[in-house]
Amino acid sequence: MASGRADSCRVISVASTTRPRAVYPNSLMPSLSVYGAQWGDEGKGKIIDRLAIGADFVVRYQGGANAGHTVVVGDEKYVLHLIPSGILHPGKVNVVGNGVAVDPLKFLDEVSGLRERGVAVDGTNLRLSAGAHVIFAHHRRIDQLGERWLGDGKIGTTGRGIGPAYGDKARRSGLRVSDLLDADRCRERLGAALAEKNALFQAVHGEESMDLETELDRYISVGARLAEFVCDTGALVRAAYREGKQVLFEGAQGVMLDIDLGTYPYVTSSNTGPNGIPSGAAFPVGQVDQIVGIAKAYCTRVGEGPFPTEDHGEEGTAIRKAGNEFGATTGRPRRCGWFDAVAVRYASECHGTHGLVLTNLDVLSGFENLKVGVAYEQDGTVFDDYPAHLPSLEGVRPRLETLPGWDENIEGARTWEELPERARDYVEWLEEQIRIPIVMLSVGPERDQVIPRGLSL
Ligand code: GDP
Ligand code: IMO
Ligand code: MG
Repeated sequence: MASGRADSCRVISVASTTRPRAVYPNSLMPSLSVYGAQWGDEGKGKIIDRLAIGADFVVRYQGGANAGHTVVVGDEKYVLHLIPSGILHPGKVNVVGNGVAVDPLKFLDEVSGLRERGVAVDGTNLRLSAGAHVIFAHHRRIDQLGERWLGDGKIGTTGRGIGPAYGDKARRSGLRVSDLLDADRCRERLGAALAEKNALFQAVHGEESMDLETELDRYISVGARLAEFVCDTGALVRAAYREGKQVLFEGAQGVMLDIDLGTYPYVTSSNTGPNGIPSGAAFPVGQVDQIVGIAKAYCTRVGEGPFPTEDHGEEGTAIRKAGNEFGATTGRPRRCGWFDAVAVRYASECHGTHGLVLTNLDVLSGFENLKVGVAYEQDGTVFDDYPAHLPSLEGVRPRLETLPGWDENIEGARTWEELPERARDYVEWLEEQIRIPIVMLSVGPERDQVIPRGLSL
């Protein structure tokens, strides 16, 4: 909502503000949705791996191998793209739901990569929905050619075929995992799909067409290798919930990249938050018991599109360096900037969020001042709330508040009391801005580098 003209930046005294106490149940409820509350890469992999200790099922319900979820265990670093971030814990069932766009080649590569590193992966701890849509080589190619076609107007996609595959799903011309398991059906449907795509490659892009027999051989043999994982994952997860098992829903990307709620058209092609669960996991909306967002203590974005609190100067570069902010999937340098309280509050309100996990707090150590976006301004009008009615956020400028930083290294802190006072003040001040409790802090990439503040196991 607009509230008058913008003030210039000012340093505020956090000591004088009121401090809400985090109120949160001390254990996991039967089902918990954990989603990214910014533009992706909030540290979901790390937090989900940690929360998976107390869960029985970890369920992906949207996105695909555009995701890169990093889990660090001791000296080992794993980047998971399609396989849920519970896979490193023995005895958990990891589910790739029907709403995920699955590149079967990447899925099998990821399975082999984990097995080579000694992680047990089989049809008991990894389940794949028969109803998940398939990303083919032609989808990846169309994604990349489409970006080239758009030129300066490109989205900056990960090139993983996400948009074209979800597009075919919506056009009702896609193939699902179950179609790969039936050679005749695969031949019929893939043949029809590829005939159309080949016309596109040749007529629009002036590119070579793809050979149908080569593609059919490839994907029919892939189907056979997928078979051990495939089932009706919706029925599996609903039954688990009925039996009192704990189910963790792992969002990919973030709300600001959500196709409906995000900075369209600079978004991905799925519903990234708990809004994707009922359709993408075939799980009842009313049984999603708790909802937790994840946000970094600052903000990053990969790809094109509006990013109001982006810092193009030395501080943005300093954040990138301190946080080693390079894409886990594409290796692209991430655009860096300050915590955007407007965007996180919007994400949280859209999803009825119970609490927020704040990650990468350690990265801010050593900054003399920290800025936080508290409102947006466009053409002299101030928006305290996210202006979702604007066709695009282009041209929006942030109204920034400046808070004092801290010098201490906080990577070793494991309790709230061990944090320097200014770090605590920063967290409590953010809490007021976003109007929900911050229920866990993360102070480093490793599993144990967390400070529970209500959300614990
Ligand atoms: P995701 O896509 O949300 O899972 O996040 P990414 O894995 O793409 O990016 C998060 C990056 O931050 C990874 O390199 C993580 O290892 C790292 N990370 C996660 N939490 C923390 C933290 O609290 N502090 C620091 N310094 N790094 C973190
Ligand atoms: P995780 O799960 C950050 C971005 C891309 C691009 C836009 C559309 O690791 O947080 P797409 O390939 O989905 O069509 O690209 O979305 N994007 C991500 N940015 N983290 C991700 O996933 C992303 N997945 C897609 O950079 O701007
Ligand atoms: Mg990522």
